[in-house]
Amino acid sequence: MKKIAIVGPGRVGESAAQILAKEELCHELVLIGEYSDSTQGIALDIQETAPLFGFDTRVFGGADPEAMSGSDLVIVCAGSPRKPGMSRDALLDANLPIISSIVDSVMRFAPDAMLLMVTNPVDVLTYQVWRHSGWDRRRVFGLSGVLDSTRMASFIALETGFSVKDITAMVLGGHGDAMVPLPRYSSINGVPIDNFLSAETIARLIEHTRKGGAEIIALKKTSSAYDSPAASIAAMVDAVSLDRRRILPCVAILDGEYGEQDIAMGVPVVLAANGVEKVVELSLSEDEQTALAKSAAQLRSIIDKAEINV
Ligand code: 2OP
Repeated sequence: MKKIAIVGPGRVGESAAQILAKEELCHELVLIGEYSDSTQGIALDIQETAPLFGFDTRVFGGADPEAMSGSDLVIVCAGSPRKPGMSRDALLDANLPIISSIVDSVMRFAPDAMLLMVTNPVDVLTYQVWRHSGWDRRRVFGLSGVLDSTRMASFIALETGFSVKDITAMVLGGHGDAMVPLPRYSSINGVPIDNFLSAETIARLIEHTRKGGAEIIALKKTSSAYDSPAASIAAMVDAVSLDRRRILPCVAILDGEYGEQDIAMGVPVVLAANGVEKVVELSLSEDEQTALAKSAAQLRSIIDKAEINV
């Protein structure tokens, strides 16, 4: 990709910018923040790591949304993060107007871009952006499953002592308490995890995964997680930028898949140069299907409350 814009270079956005630049996932990286000086400072700080890391990505920063013009991908991280004890959904009122004005700018200055939504509540905001932009659903997607899955894979690695290199985990559904970790689709080099872990341990790891984000906020107190979200953004951008056609769980707009329509939630997709190439439908057990339907119903009740005007 030639150009990527990150709107909202807070902790998640800044950390993601550093990785994208270092990995040379674009030629030009533009950070757009609320304050011009501080955003320029963040960009310069990252740019000055280039000789050490050996990257040629050019990093710019400022407050003018017009700087996103010509972007192939716009990553939206702007908005309030969660505070200790807060649910992601409680952020809706604060973040909806912010996202509304950002979508307005994206449609004006980068009408051909793809949009990766990171701001919480990510499923609801991804849906709203898609609906009000009128864009093809392949171009609008969000971060959730990659982050939730890397948490689950980390816990499996720590519990079993096996290398993370061999571990894959799959988490579907909304990026909230009703997320649906799928141990049946989680494995160690192809070997299902129940070969190594008892049912009780797997249940504990699932619960740990569900509460992974809240656990970090409760410990850090002044910040939500940002290293693992940033690395997750980079994994998604890598799939798009290098047209890898990776199968990754992402927030995607559903059009009948998994029996759901007119909703955005976490499902496995083929992520490639043009965004969501295809939603991958896994065959689910009755319990898994019920859990996913419950997660969708919870999201739908929030979507019904949210309306953005763009
Ligand atoms: C998390 O799960 C902030 O939603 C983000 O850490």
